[in-house]
Amino acid sequence: MAGAGQVHRAEGQDRVSRRPDANQADASQAANQAGDPAYRFASPDLVGSELRAAGYLPDERISSVVYLGDRLGKPVLVEGPAGTGKTELAKSVAAMTGRRLIRLQCYEGLDEAKALYEWNYSKQLLRIQAERAGHERADWSELQADIFGEEFLLARPLLAAIRAPDPVVLLIDEVDRLDAETEALLLEVLSDYQVSIPEFGTVTSTQTPLVFLTSNNSRELSEALKRRCLYLYIDYPAPERERDIVLSRVPGFDVTLAGQVAGVVRSLRQLELKKRPSVSETIDWAQTLSLLGVQEIATDLVIDTLHVLLKHQSDIEKATAELQRSR
Ligand SMILES: Nc1ncnc2c1ncn2[C@@H]1O[C@H](COP(=O)(O)OP(=O)(O)O)[C@@H](O)[C@H]1O
Ligand SMILES: [Mg+2]
Repeated sequence: MAGAGQVHRAEGQDRVSRRPDANQADASQAANQAGDPAYRFASPDLVGSELRAAGYLPDERISSVVYLGDRLGKPVLVEGPAGTGKTELAKSVAAMTGRRLIRLQCYEGLDEAKALYEWNYSKQLLRIQAERAGHERADWSELQADIFGEEFLLARPLLAAIRAPDPVVLLIDEVDRLDAETEALLLEVLSDYQVSIPEFGTVTSTQTPLVFLTSNNSRELSEALKRRCLYLYIDYPAPERERDIVLSRVPGFDVTLAGQVAGVVRSLRQLELKKRPSVSETIDWAQTLSLLGVQEIATDLVIDTLHVLLKHQSDIEKATAELQRSR
């Protein structure tokens, strides 16, 4: 793996001699030559039209926060209910800019070794054994310099994004699933775009990645994390936007029918449900209606297909009762 990040030696590591890394110099030069500017979007409107061209339908606020995140070089924290297009936004920004997407999927128990980096222990061990077999008395400090070098470092998504020689989008998905301790690991990456590795040094990025964090709001994130980010709340879309999302995701779907779909979903969301239908479910429902060849939405049809929109039996029963009452 080419090390594109600039490496500053960690204090106390001066004993460790390091080979000059030719790849590293080449890669940073390449990044500079590519002219990766500090920003690339000309205006929020342009962000909007480029996102639409990539198949993502933003509202004005989404376009403007993406624009600012790029201009200010700040990560964007996207919060909101599940299935409202948070992950899709980061993917679409990668698609529209032609940047590579590096994704860190967060989960409970995710640790430093899976998020940042780890040392390739078995390879280190093999090197030590080979060294011992070759020499009577291997020089430990030389060996140490060797086994804590680039070759033995396994970069996980955060380090990979920092070291990437090419411009990337870093998606830290569902950050609210991390425990508070692991969340703290993100702070250095998010504020300085660098990673400190005690045995190796500090790896600094040569390009500012576009960073998106998503959260389903399952817990409050730390103030320290929020301070480093721009904040974007994505709620369920307004009916016209949801209609347009359906039209863009379900080819050939009728415009009037799409409007009705958005209206029904909106009224279901107003009920007191365990899990309100998300945009993904709206799309699934529209696809179902399309497969069934439905021309118009009648109450019985809604009741019969509620299981596509709602995923709890109690929610289905509640919605059925409500639909029958309003018939
Ligand atoms: N603004 C949007 N434009 C186009 N598709 C969208 C939009 N918002 C949501 N979607 C659709 O909804 C699905 C779910 O979105 P996703 O980003 O996975 O939700 P979450 O907010 O849970 O990360 C996506 O696969 C996408 O098809
Ligand atoms: Mg998501």
